[in-house]
Amino acid sequence: MNSRPRKIVCIGAGYVGGPTMAVIAARCPDVQVTVLDLNAERIAAWNSGSLPVFEPGLPEIIRQVRGRNLHFIPQAQGLAALAEADVVFISVQTPTKTSGAGAGKASDLQFVEACAHLIAQQARGHTIVVEKSTMPVRAAERIQQILSANQTGGTFAVLSNPEFLAEGTAIRDLEHPDRVLIGGEDPAAVAALKSIYAAWVAPEKILTTGLWSAELSKLAANAFLAQRISSINSLSALCEQTGADVAEVAAVVGTDSRIGPKFLQASVGFGGSCFQKDLLSLIYLCEHHGLPEVAAYWQGVVDINEWQKHRFAAVVQQAAANRRVAVLGLAFKKDTNDFRESAALAVCRRLLQSGLEVVAYDPRVDGTRFAAELGNPSHFSVASTAAQALAGAGAVAVLTEWDEFRSIAWASAKLSPGAMVCDGRNVVDRTAVRQAGYGLRVIGSAAP
Ligand code: UDX
Ligand code: ADP
Repeated sequence: MNSRPRKIVCIGAGYVGGPTMAVIAARCPDVQVTVLDLNAERIAAWNSGSLPVFEPGLPEIIRQVRGRNLHFIPQAQGLAALAEADVVFISVQTPTKTSGAGAGKASDLQFVEACAHLIAQQARGHTIVVEKSTMPVRAAERIQQILSANQTGGTFAVLSNPEFLAEGTAIRDLEHPDRVLIGGEDPAAVAALKSIYAAWVAPEKILTTGLWSAELSKLAANAFLAQRISSINSLSALCEQTGADVAEVAAVVGTDSRIGPKFLQASVGFGGSCFQKDLLSLIYLCEHHGLPEVAAYWQGVVDINEWQKHRFAAVVQQAAANRRVAVLGLAFKKDTNDFRESAALAVCRRLLQSGLEVVAYDPRVDGTRFAAELGNPSHFSVASTAAQALAGAGAVAVLTEWDEFRSIAWASAKLSPGAMVCDGRNVVDRTAVRQAGYGLRVIGSAAP
């Protein structure tokens, strides 16, 4: 193989695989990139005008590269591309295990293992296999075992290249990364993967480490980020009791250059497919390696997040002037249509369990899929505008920081008299809510 790869395949056309391959294709026009997925419907959506992933800037890039050097193909029809690939990225989900050893904590590697089996069967010549999905430490060893049992005579090098993009800013993060991390023990393979990123990332930002350090670094980075949110959220409760304002506290704390201002936004709790899953995976690893004190330390980050979501739901429940609650925001953060592990799931479940009716609105989330995730409860419905959700509500729960929620016209919102607006993101216009005659509860401040 020429040291600069020419043919790349990515298995998994999800929130990570799709945008990442789109940016690689745009920045490396000489490289052919093929994205495969078992889910033919998802592939069809990538090939349509209605992409399965909402990300600012993504449609423009897809229009530029799709059909040129980026191809989305159902897996069954893409085996020839797999056979010819110089590099294969594995970018499939690694959810928390629901049964068997490590259930509730360990990451489920069954999707990754299925990919490794497929690569072992199909690959020809020398193939660099790259872990893109977040994996538990030493997952590469499992991939290597599967690959080395192949019958095709192919040879393999396994690298870890964890993705640090955040949804909602994925394109910016991919185009201007803080760093790209490549972990591996095979210098030629590391150099080959490095040559791809070097097309647009400065050399000093491409970090190389051992395989296991790369895998652990990804878990550690997400654990640190989640820890900051749980830290500020824990203090938000204290602020509400003492008269301090968490936004002021965060602003002051963040001016210490050793701490920095980012990721100190108190909220109804973090969500998303990564933080909780990666924390649980880290906790499992610590327990597995006989480090219960370390496991307990990180478990505290998860526990505070659960507590914050339930604490907020209880506030809404108690504040409701009638049985109808308007939920604004179902996505786990703004600028994405992803609601995996979103605070909205936990809050809606709690409100519905307590017998309240929930009318939800989100500008991007598919309400039908969200309702299905909740089990299609009879007291849950989806509105097509914020105003529609608000009409007649006895309480409002703002759960995602979508920009449009900052400028809601509260004076003309037809809430029930005495309704309470509960802002889980500290985004609503407080003066406008008060002038409209509604009550207001916010995270981290007693008297907004
Ligand atoms: C995260 C990491 O940021 C990213 O590097 C990694 O690759 C994947 O996991 P993501 O989950 O997509 O990215 O989004 P992120 O911006 O980290 O937000 C995660 C959650 O934390 C969201 O629910 C967000 O609303 C919440 N959050 C974030 C806060 O509540 N307060 C903050 O100050 C920041
Ligand atoms: P992420 O957020 O990590 O990108 P997603 O769930 O959005 O995760 O995407 C993972 C994708 O991987 C899904 O579209 C799923 O259908 C696909 N996938 C899972 N297992 C396989 C497999 N063995 N072969 C091909 N695609 C797979």
